[in-house]
Amino acid sequence: MANGRTWILRAAAAAVALAAGGCARAEPHVLTFSGSLVGREGDVIRRQLDRFREANPSIDIALRATPDAANLRHQLYVQWLNARASDPDVLQLDVVWTPEFAAAGWIAGLDRFEPPVDQFFAAAVDADRWNGSLYALPWFVDVGMLYWRTDLAPRAPRDLDELAQLARRAQEEEGVPFGFVWQGARYEGLVTVFLEYLGALGGAILDDRGRVVVDSTAAVRALTYMRDAIDIDGIVPPAVLTWQEEQTRFAFQNGQAAFMRNWPYAYALLQDPSQSKVAGRFAVAAMPAGPDGAATAALGGSALAVNAYSEQPEVAYRLIDYLLQPEQMIERARIAGEFPTRPALYETRALADALTIPLADALKVIERAVPRPITPVYSQLSEILQIALHRALTRQQEPRAALTEAAAGMRALLAKVKLGPLASTP
Ligand code: GLC
Repeated sequence: MANGRTWILRAAAAAVALAAGGCARAEPHVLTFSGSLVGREGDVIRRQLDRFREANPSIDIALRATPDAANLRHQLYVQWLNARASDPDVLQLDVVWTPEFAAAGWIAGLDRFEPPVDQFFAAAVDADRWNGSLYALPWFVDVGMLYWRTDLAPRAPRDLDELAQLARRAQEEEGVPFGFVWQGARYEGLVTVFLEYLGALGGAILDDRGRVVVDSTAAVRALTYMRDAIDIDGIVPPAVLTWQEEQTRFAFQNGQAAFMRNWPYAYALLQDPSQSKVAGRFAVAAMPAGPDGAATAALGGSALAVNAYSEQPEVAYRLIDYLLQPEQMIERARIAGEFPTRPALYETRALADALTIPLADALKVIERAVPRPITPVYSQLSEILQIALHRALTRQQEPRAALTEAAAGMRALLAKVKLGPLASTP
């Protein structure tokens, strides 16, 4: 009996081994890509992965979707990488995450692949280096833009006060329910909106030497301006306090808002008459300046990195290299409206033809781009700030008190991780 059972077990084990061996020989590698599928990003990445698969029949590709909200995507990646999961092999990183993931040892150094770094925007490549080594490559550039209705306003507002006046006029005289909509939920998007108001009023999160200055008078004024736009001016609906990018796009494309702050991805979707009521009736500009500040566009975007625990880093890098080729960037610009990270493409007809957004308008906004702090503790700094911003906007705390507390928390964090002043740029 015992012998019989042993034999059966051995036979079963042999069958499994054979099947596994057979599989390994017959089945292609599965390389997993993980990233954002907001707007038309899903369409473009699926096409490109299909083409890569056709050109590389020995590699099979799986696409792992992630949540739309940048923070939730971050959380998921942290869980996977903390558990040393070997997939996803290729990760789409928000521009602000590379130093954190590199310092944690979660993404592989890319210098050994000798990528052609001089072909990409230098500032974007800088954000992908940590301790002198390269850990990611810039995939697309995002900039915060002001979308305005050309049938409701005579021109793009020259300053923040004019924006408020035009927004109110559209509400009062044209019956548009919302004057202005932006991303006000407690997540990373809120920090980017704040950064634009902050720049408009002459403030910053960190100063040139990396010291926390988010409790300055200018910063308090910026946050007060945002809060008052909701409940004193009534231009911004309180609903934005739960809205991310897509909810603001839906309001604007349904004709419910005169102005919207959003990223470039929204442009092509808003021009599509099958889903948008405002096709042909809007334009973009940089968020205007307020007193003492400058027109500011938050710099966003994504980079591509290889999971440090990937079992196939070479193949993973091959996919990254493919996705960064000029044709892929042009296709991404055409389908998803996202801007290439290769400066040479901005000189080409191909890019101007691909983008629905007029290239000259896009460049005017890109000129105003301001990055968020580059530091491995960015996510923690942002978390502290998001809580303070949201508490002030929901009137649970006065802007000054909220920012004073946030600044103290941010300083303590930087001191604790010994990154104090000077270690982080802007
Ligand atoms: C966009 C930007 C990214 C930013 C995020 C905030 O995805 O590309 O940089 O952090 O929006 O919601």
